[in-house]
Amino acid sequence: MTRVSEHPSAELRLGFIGAGRLAQALALALQQAGLPVARVGSRRLESARVMAGMLSACQACDPQEVTDQCDLVFIATPDAAIAPVAGAVAWRAGQGVVHCSGATSVAALQPAADAGARIGGFHPMQAFGADPQAAVRSLPGCTVAIEAADPALAARLHQLTSRLGCVGLTLPPGARARYHASGGYASQHVHVLLAEAVRLWQSWGATEQQALDALLPLLRGTLASAARSGVAAGMPGPVSRGDAGTVGLHRQALQAVDPAMRDLYDQLCLRGVVLARRAGRLDDGQAQTLEQVLSRPPDAP
Ligand SMILES: NC(=O)c1ccc[n+]([C@@H]2O[C@H](COP(=O)([O-])OP(=O)(O)OC[C@H]3O[C@@H](n4cnc5c(N)ncnc54)[C@H](OP(=O)(O)O)[C@@H]3O)[C@@H](O)[C@H]2O)c1
Repeated sequence: MTRVSEHPSAELRLGFIGAGRLAQALALALQQAGLPVARVGSRRLESARVMAGMLSACQACDPQEVTDQCDLVFIATPDAAIAPVAGAVAWRAGQGVVHCSGATSVAALQPAADAGARIGGFHPMQAFGADPQAAVRSLPGCTVAIEAADPALAARLHQLTSRLGCVGLTLPPGARARYHASGGYASQHVHVLLAEAVRLWQSWGATEQQALDALLPLLRGTLASAARSGVAAGMPGPVSRGDAGTVGLHRQALQAVDPAMRDLYDQLCLRGVVLARRAGRLDDGQAQTLEQVLSRPPDAP
């Protein structure tokens, strides 16, 4: 019987079900790390062929053949397809199967566990776009959340993670959705906040490009500050300086553009007051003044 723990990395036969953005990036990175992918299957054989064509020794096939031929199978389908895929193919005892979703429970792979396979989660905390080479370059240094009750599979996944130049994170059971939501704050929500800022530029006739040209250097500086000093001590802006007058001017301006935008600004500033207090940058009086300004009627200065 083939067992995950019995193979040195070089002989471990890796396979993918799903041939999209994550699968292409991860498979290329694994190959570059000396861990070639042997099989890929997908909903459409054509997608599997495209991905196999990017790799040096990979065959496109149907998902069942991936499972039959490989020791460790990555399910890299959209989240909603993970459980149906796990239930649609026949697994064998001892092989490893992981999904790559951040939020989905490992229990989605229960049909594989019922057949004796070792199940787990392998989620790189990175956003993979349409360019697979760019995605590969973005991988080193990323955290990979690993969840596997089976010690041999967990050890194997940590080894692969190290070979990729990534940092392995052991997630406790039940933490996946919170862990994945945290990524939303560092990725999706940044875009949402940039969109709010771009709307302000557009309100005086500027373009999105002009806004991004001005705001992205600021964002890069902000990220560098957070990396250098931490989230609380590194926070810039009028809240961290206790500048209640400027906050009042912002509220009036935003209320005139869109009351919902001013409401979001208020919520963010209130969280900022907590952060600035934690960093010791505001005393009690400054914090109270800011909170009073943020609770005034929207049009008041
Ligand atoms: N992209 C990211 O930034 C990222 C980052 C971390 C984790 N993830 C996770 O990685 C997984 C894949 O995401 P993705 O962005 O790579 O998605 P994607 O680009 O949409 O690719 C999904 C792939 O799965 C295939 N597929 C769909 N339904 C299938 C089924 N029933 N059976 C077999 N194959 C099926 C698709 O099929 P066809 O091409 O054959 O039609 C496609 O090749 C998700 O769980 C996601 O949460 C993604």
